[in-house]
Amino acid sequence: MIPLDIAIIAKEEELREELHTKLVCTANHGFAPYAQEELRRLFGSVKSTMLIPGEVFVATLQTGPEEAVEAIRLQPPIFLRHLFPVQMEMAGADAEAAIREAAGWLAQQEAVKEARSAAIHVRKTDNSSWAHSPGELREQLQQHLAPLELEFTVQQPEWIISLFATDDIWYAGVSKAEDNLSDWNGGAIRFQREEGQISRAKFKLLEAEQQFSIPFASYRRALDIGAAPGGWTSFLLERGVEVTAVDPAKMHPSLSGHSGLRVIRKNAAEVSFRESEFDLLVCDMSWSPKQMVKLVTGLLYSLQIGGTAVITVKLLTKKPMALIKEIIAQFEEARMQVQGAKQLFHNRDEITLYMIKY
Ligand SMILES: C[S@@+](CC[C@H](N)C(=O)[O-])C[C@H]1O[C@@H](n2cnc3c(N)ncnc32)[C@H](O)[C@@H]1O
Repeated sequence: MIPLDIAIIAKEEELREELHTKLVCTANHGFAPYAQEELRRLFGSVKSTMLIPGEVFVATLQTGPEEAVEAIRLQPPIFLRHLFPVQMEMAGADAEAAIREAAGWLAQQEAVKEARSAAIHVRKTDNSSWAHSPGELREQLQQHLAPLELEFTVQQPEWIISLFATDDIWYAGVSKAEDNLSDWNGGAIRFQREEGQISRAKFKLLEAEQQFSIPFASYRRALDIGAAPGGWTSFLLERGVEVTAVDPAKMHPSLSGHSGLRVIRKNAAEVSFRESEFDLLVCDMSWSPKQMVKLVTGLLYSLQIGGTAVITVKLLTKKPMALIKEIIAQFEEARMQVQGAKQLFHNRDEITLYMIKY
């Protein structure tokens, strides 16, 4: 017979094992400390180790995996762009041995055995024991998993197999795309650059459309503040929205004469519109956030109740969390309800706010 107190200690240890989640977390370059802070605010003490400075870290939470995923889903983080749960850690100094171990472990996972399709996301550090490209590592792993007759796909996979290879430890996990916060490897969503594309800024609005599921084609009249050279404007015109573009700077010549476009070459502080003239307001001014809020809230009378606003907020400060809180509070005072706030992959030192007027 095992004495009762020893049995209880063993059980507690088992439970403690369960109440423990390891995540490989990714933020935009330089913003990992804020993603770490978001996790600390959600889960209390968080142990973390940087894997790629300022960008990727592995975090250990004293919470069970399901509870952790649920908490993150209920309070979506702004700076934590992507995560995957670590279910297996391998000694990685010998890359070939680590691949075999990873493949052997994966082949035994129920999710992998029963899955019809999966995506393999591979990333590595610069000094990783895997000296070739992540793509080559993915191919090797795929070859090892060939007997499973699993369809490897990029789009809408049933499961995502993640592998992060450093010089001495390789981290692996199997998860659903929604639990990773993104179905793109590391949350790095890529769009094809189109011929004649006016600006890279367009990618920000494309990404916001996907991230927040914004039905851009359902709007009729948009106000674009700080519109030049016209990446956002061209995106909205493509979605069939009429656009009023305000900017003292010149719009791209390819937009001139577009029947759905009105251009006002003025400072946005000097323009006025009819009440409720627009059902969409977008603003990407790359300007002092406090000035931007003043300017945008001054024009909100022209946005219908129920109308949408998509706005980038430049983080010109060492205290972005406090700044974001202040900016959101000011918009809320102006009857804007925040639906989403996120540092998108295509945002640099800024975040994107998605709001609805009530
Ligand atoms: C980052 S660019 C916008 C890029 C644009 N979203 C695109 O997709 O091409 C910022 C623009 O804001 C404009 N801007 C800055 N302050 C402004 C103001 N007070 N009123 C109107 N436009 C302003 C600048 O002239 C500049 O063209």
